[in-house]
Amino acid sequence: MLLDTLHLDASNPADVQRAAALLAAGKLVAIPTETVYGLAAHAFTPSAIEEIFRVKGRPMDNPLIVHCATAGDIELVATDIPIVAWRLLERFAPGPLTLVLHRHPRVPSIVSAGLPSVAVRIPALEVTRRLIALAGEPVVAPSANQSGRPSPTRAEHVLEDLGGSIAAILDAGPCAIGIESTVLNLTAEPATIVRPGAIEAADLAEILGYEPPLASHSGTGAPIAPGMKYRHYAPRTPVFLTDSLETIPTGALVLTTAPVESDRIRARLLTRQTLYDEFRRADREQVPAIYVLITPDVRADRALMNRIEKAAVSAQRTDNTPPMC
Ligand code: TXA
Ligand code: MG
Repeated sequence: MLLDTLHLDASNPADVQRAAALLAAGKLVAIPTETVYGLAAHAFTPSAIEEIFRVKGRPMDNPLIVHCATAGDIELVATDIPIVAWRLLERFAPGPLTLVLHRHPRVPSIVSAGLPSVAVRIPALEVTRRLIALAGEPVVAPSANQSGRPSPTRAEHVLEDLGGSIAAILDAGPCAIGIESTVLNLTAEPATIVRPGAIEAADLAEILGYEPPLASHSGTGAPIAPGMKYRHYAPRTPVFLTDSLETIPTGALVLTTAPVESDRIRARLLTRQTLYDEFRRADREQVPAIYVLITPDVRADRALMNRIEKAAVSAQRTDNTPPMC
């Protein structure tokens, strides 16, 4: 069924109320966060959560992040919360840090794709926390894109992928950070980074006392972050990594952190904030290929490199690995 997706304005309190009322009524609302736009639904309403998986085309084994209005509300969705979680929250919440904790039995298992854990974060945008508080319950919110596509950093991106399939979008303008939160697993020792993101391992070390390693996906048993096995973040335009401008064919688009003088190729600025926007723009402009110039500063940014590598691998692969969100 095609819905008339409401375009609501986050700077208008009546619109924020309206978005909250839609969430409370079990509808799907795209919400702004400091990282990327999320597709929200009440965390305790399994039918709304099923609808999220359906409209995104998201594989059912990829768990969702619960977003709370306050750090204290994490007790509504997690149990046996270790002291280090509170210390991390004190330092980094509200903000782009997601903690994987033990799931409270009241949280529907569909939220965590059947895992005994639950991922939680407190978004930094004040209006988003106000919205969650008004909605009356924490909300789940995966990135508000079609599964496998680049995450949305502007309301237009959400409408491009999900317009007509969701009740509303609350527009707060472009996202300040532009890539997703860091996901840190605290259900085992040592803590591990399930997804590198806006907060660095070195920052987490200030509280943990060690730099958390990247979660391993080798070995037997279920992967700790099911989402890691899927394609991610990919534009339709093929993405290639290069360390030299010489190899870039005429007419291609290059994303780079350094200025480029060339009549042969088009260059645009690469930052965390512009990456997904440029990916989507390349699709709209139907450029033949995107080349990302991997300079030392880009290589040093683990979160940015992670997104670029996943988009590039997925754009070049020929197997039928399902997309992910
Ligand atoms: O910045 C963000 O985190 C954005 C905004 C909207 O908050 N959200 C986001 O959600 O990126 P999503 O669903 O696109 O990515 C969630 C990631 C996936 O890689 C998923 O597998 C992992 O978090 N995840 C969620 N729950 C988990 C759990 N219980 N254990 C391990 N990984 C989990
Ligand atoms: Mg996503």
